[in-house]
Parts: sequence; structure tokens; C-alpha cells
Amino acid sequence: MTSLLEVQGLCARVGTKEILRGVDLVVEPGEIHAVMGPNGSGKSTLAHVLAGRPGPEVTAGRALLNGTDLLDLAPYERARAGLFLGLQHPIEVPGVTTHAALARAGVPRDRLTAMMQSSAAEVGLRVDLLDRPLNVGLSGGEAKRNEIVQLQVLRPKVAILDEIDSGLDVDALVDVGATLTRAVATWGLGVVAITHFRRLLDVLPATNVHVFVDGRIVESGDKTLAVRLERDGYMSFL
Ligand SMILES: Nc1ncnc2c1ncn2[C@@H]1O[C@H](COP(=O)(O)OP(=O)(O)O)[C@@H](O)[C@H]1O
Ligand SMILES: [Mg+2]
Repeated sequence: MTSLLEVQGLCARVGTKEILRGVDLVVEPGEIHAVMGPNGSGKSTLAHVLAGRPGPEVTAGRALLNGTDLLDLAPYERARAGLFLGLQHPIEVPGVTTHAALARAGVPRDRLTAMMQSSAAEVGLRVDLLDRPLNVGLSGGEAKRNEIVQLQVLRPKVAILDEIDSGLDVDALVDVGATLTRAVATWGLGVVAITHFRRLLDVLPATNVHVFVDGRIVESGDKTLAVRLERDGYMSFL
């Protein structure tokens, strides 16, 4: 059976440094996978490699989305195939509004404004911020909410969310968690949520929790694994 996302033995290096050392991960529709691990273990690099960000060089492995190897595709083709990346640090893109970026992504223009406005209302983003150039002048929390607006309009099959909870106040965290949880229920979105905080799982109920150390997943379990990490840290995995 073909899985939604299947990462097999993925290895990548930056320069001469091996950052990913054999990542295995399978995500099915409607599953929420939390990936937790120490700083510098390669979590963001995994997200970037899957999305095709230039920099890391893939040295081994595969990453299949519904059976198609993402690694053979250009970044925009990966997005069109249904992959979404929510960046840890959303970048400012002066001169390009969120609206224009989404229109270029193929969302029908006649429906786009209404879709963006209803998504913004759902996730608690001020509607006037949608007219700004992409992420320009947005606070950390506003930029993260803006990522969720884009996700809702694009309706990807898989969302990789890199510390979507960082910079969010407690109300924003609830809004973002509820919106994502609805996306999972509504269209079977599969989520890979990279996070440092178990409390994200209070608002985004993970079906699977993974410990990511030194470039690979070293242990997988259910929500109780996140509770254990919160209590004991990563010492026993290093
Ligand atoms: N472009 C780069 N050049 C050099 N080193 C990098 C680059 N990107 C990431 N690294 C290194 O790769 C390691 C993993 O980084 P990262 O994937 O950001 O970790 P995490 O997200 O788990 O904190 C770190 O040691 C980091 O310094
Ligand atoms: Mg990171």
C-alpha cells in the first residue's frame, strides 16, 4: 500500500558535515506526527530537504509523496504535489503580497480573497495584514498565523510545520492548534509538527511522537513519549 509520505533512509550533508543520517518516517492521511529533539539535531534540515530548499545535499534515501519521489522534483513541483512547509522563521518577501503569492500558486483568483479572509478570521489574523507584502513587518505570532492562512487556502496533503508554536502567545496557540486539527479532520491533512514543547500537543493531538537525535529518529511512540521527554529531557537518547 502506498503511504501519504514515506521517508526512507534519508541522508544529507551541508558542506562536509553529515546532518541527516538515515531518517525513516511514514505519515498517513489524518495523522499528526510530533518530532521532538535537541537544538542542532537536524530537524529544520529535514524540513528543508523535504521541501527542496537549496543548501543541504542529499546523499542517500528517498522521500515519497503518494509514491512519487519528491527529491526528483523542483520545490514548486513538490508544493503542487501537495507538500507544505511552514518555516521556523518565515522570511519577509517585500513586493509580493500573500494574495499574489497564493494566486501564483494556482488558487482561483475569484475565490481567493474570500478564502483568505475566512481563514484569517478562523486563525485570528487581522484581515488588513493580508494586504501587506508577505510577512513584512509581521510579529512572530502574526507570521505564524499567516503561514496557517496559506496552508488553509492551499489545502496541501502534508504539512511540515517547523516550530509553528514558537513565538505564539497562549491564545494564538489555541487558534493555530484548532485550525490545524480541523484541517486534519476536514481533508485528511497529514502533519509533521517539529516542536520543543509538549504543550503543543494539548491543542494539536499527536497520533505519533518521535525523538529526533543526531540526524535520525531514534524512538517513536504515542503522546506518553512526549510526557516522558518533558519530564526527563533527551539525556537517555544521547
Ligand atoms: N547552511 C548551513 N551551513 C552550515 N551548517 C548548517 C547549515 N544548516 C544547518 N547547519 C547545521 O546543521 C545542524 C542542524 O541544524 P538544524 O537542522 O537547524 O537543527 P535543529 O532544527 O534540529 O535545531 C546544526 O549543527 C547547524 O549548525
Ligand atoms: Mg530548527
